[in-house]
Amino acid sequence: MAQYRGLMLGFIPLILSQFALVGAQVAEIEKASNESLLWGPYRPNLYFGVRPRIPKSLMGGLLWTRVEDYASVQNNFRHTCEQHELDGYGWDEYDVRTGGRQTIHDPANRVDITTEFIKFPGGQHGGSWGVRIKGTPREDASPDLRTTVIWYNTLEGLGSLEANADSDEVGTEGDVVLKGQTLELGDFEIRVTEGKGDHPRTNHPSYNEKPLDRTLVHSAQLPEEALWQTKPILYGHLKSQIDALISKYPEDNPPPPAQVYTIQHSPGRGNFHLVQKVFEGPFEFDVLYSSASAPTPVTSNDMTEKIKSVTSEFSSRFTNIFKPQAPFFKDRYEEFSKSLFSNLIGGIGYFFGDSRVDRSYDSAYEEDNEGFWEDAEEARGRNVAQFEGPSELYTSIPSRPFFPRGFLWDEGFHLIPVIDWDVDLTLDIIKSWFKLMDEDGWIAREQILGAEARSKVPPEFQVQYPHYANPPTLFMVITSFLDKLDVQTAASEKSSQKLLAEKSYFMQLANREAALQYLRTLYPLLKRHYFWFRKTQAGDIKSYDREAFSTKEGYRWRGRTPRHVLTSGLDDYPRPQPPHPGELHVDLLSWIGLMTRSMKRIAVYLGEEDDAAEFVKYEEAIIRNLDDLHWSDKAKTYCDATIDDYEENKLVCHKGYISIFPFLVGLLPPDSPRLGAVLDTLSDPEEMWTEFGLRSLSKSDEFYHTEEDYWRGPIWINMNYLAVQQLLSLAQQKGPHQERARKLYSELRRNLVSTVYNSWKETGFAWEQYNPETGKGQRTQHFTGWTSLVVKIMGMPSLEKGEKVHDEL
Ligand SMILES: *[C@@H]1O[C@H](CO)[C@@H](O)[C@H](O)[C@H]1NC(C)=O
Repeated sequence: MAQYRGLMLGFIPLILSQFALVGAQVAEIEKASNESLLWGPYRPNLYFGVRPRIPKSLMGGLLWTRVEDYASVQNNFRHTCEQHELDGYGWDEYDVRTGGRQTIHDPANRVDITTEFIKFPGGQHGGSWGVRIKGTPREDASPDLRTTVIWYNTLEGLGSLEANADSDEVGTEGDVVLKGQTLELGDFEIRVTEGKGDHPRTNHPSYNEKPLDRTLVHSAQLPEEALWQTKPILYGHLKSQIDALISKYPEDNPPPPAQVYTIQHSPGRGNFHLVQKVFEGPFEFDVLYSSASAPTPVTSNDMTEKIKSVTSEFSSRFTNIFKPQAPFFKDRYEEFSKSLFSNLIGGIGYFFGDSRVDRSYDSAYEEDNEGFWEDAEEARGRNVAQFEGPSELYTSIPSRPFFPRGFLWDEGFHLIPVIDWDVDLTLDIIKSWFKLMDEDGWIAREQILGAEARSKVPPEFQVQYPHYANPPTLFMVITSFLDKLDVQTAASEKSSQKLLAEKSYFMQLANREAALQYLRTLYPLLKRHYFWFRKTQAGDIKSYDREAFSTKEGYRWRGRTPRHVLTSGLDDYPRPQPPHPGELHVDLLSWIGLMTRSMKRIAVYLGEEDDAAEFVKYEEAIIRNLDDLHWSDKAKTYCDATIDDYEENKLVCHKGYISIFPFLVGLLPPDSPRLGAVLDTLSDPEEMWTEFGLRSLSKSDEFYHTEEDYWRGPIWINMNYLAVQQLLSLAQQKGPHQERARKLYSELRRNLVSTVYNSWKETGFAWEQYNPETGKGQRTQHFTGWTSLVVKIMGMPSLEKGEKVHDEL
């Protein structure tokens, strides 16, 4: 016994130190990943805006306009992304860890702008960065095109920022340097280089007051809540300058616009600094942020070098990960694919602020009575929303000009390509979303954090309700992470060696302990969210005469009105009319099926056997109930269920995305007796099939292209992606529909890629949806969220047989 105890005592420290070692490794991994994500163009609502992932800190941004006549300045000062003012813009190449290049085509200002953003790791404060800003006059520009460019920095929170320039001068010659410090960033400097380019030399007497070959710096201390409103502040300041200048000169000899639209040179301390340059013809300058704890300050030469290496690294990684497969071999497909993917991850933002939530728990929100939507609307009309938070969110976004904020149901789709590129980044974003969850398990579906985000949303859409759900798409990404872990495990067992992981992209995949620790931390949150869904969106099976395997597995989206089920994501897709508390929604049961499978797999991974057994039971019941509650033998499709005037169960069938949902989320096995009919619906040109992709609603449905026509016909890439993925899976397994699935997969894949590509080629943009008759992109322009799934679709294997493989597009 004594011996045994001795052994044990010797043993325990060993185990503990191993644990400590693993724990330290995991912490190291998190820290390294975190640091390389600190800075980015995380203000995607701006053409170019930079900030760190710190709630209140240093921010930067860019404005420019042509200054040849007064009218163009009024209309064309660029700052926030707006629809229909440019001929295409966005990241041609971008990686969150290293940087990339954005090109902006601005016809009204007769200039193309590029912003090359580069990160320099090192030091204790998340490293340094630089951005090279270049302007190239467009073909139709006059040879002496005059452009005014303003770089600005603001500082929120504690700390200091000061422009080191001489305020007695009329402007600064050479570089402008801002020096600052904050708790999180330590000491730093921002250098706006003199750069290259000519400056207009006007003969007007006003020139001597502000010679335009100098850089002008204006510093001010402003209320913090005003800081994001750079443009109105700038306009206000310019107006005071203009009034003062104009009054000095006779009306018949006014100063030229390039002279008039200049800021006052008054550098100094403050939380708001404008740095202005006026150019004639092409121009280039750098903004270099150097952390004092980094080994050396960033120089323009460093930028030149690193731009080259970042570009070549990006290209080779891109080819490895997403190279388009046959038949999309031509170079232009790779360029297209790079651009779409880069805009997806170049659109990632960091958001911080308060949000509006109505937690009044009005009984009307239970939606149990007939006519519930009227009571709920009335309750909402009382407008008792409170401000909550502030909270933070790190996320990608659907569209920079139109939806520059987090959307829960979009995010799962966004992360499907992103996880192939950068697992650690993806896991970080998922974590950020789940941190927003409340004690009950609710996550608001639209994240409108802070005043700047709210300024883009009409008040009636700002309020979030804690009984509203949204498709749990993040579970698709978690499933994808588990798939990757499986591959990794199999590979490491085979070669008894761990797969070599790339630095800071796949660390949490390569290190199994880190992966498990991540899952272990997330698991309780996922569970809470899962059970919140089951409870709050439960459907009523028992009160009606419904026959089903399970009396529990039926669900109903809360928050519907006669016209909309916004919470489902497919806003105006036809549903039973009028709404009824006894309704059951087939898409929701399918989503919960998807979630259940994902939960089951994680539980197995973590050795949570009791949980796993519970999820297995739910899964089986859901699969049975999909058929029992939602399949119509008559319509040969899945349908929503409601209660008719005689209090009887009734199926309401509208063919389209919702009627094939169990298939779309992978709940139909290859030998399912329903599969043939599903494929019929999908492939029939009178129903869902078009040469451009699958329509949201069947052409034969009475509501096709009616009213808002949002999800009543147009082609959406996210749902098409799910269909292509399921067809591929069927085509790769033995089963009665294998050959048919192979053909449909190949055709649908070609059609989708051509549709998105052709509109991109023609307009310079990816679009929110595509017209099922013409294939043209429509609705929101520059929709680089889930439309970017076409990158994945191009990278999927070609299953075309024989001569077609060589038929390159
Ligand atoms: C990540 O970095 C931010 C900013 O420096 C810091 O506030 C946060 O605590 C870090 N998180 C982790 C997990 O290291």
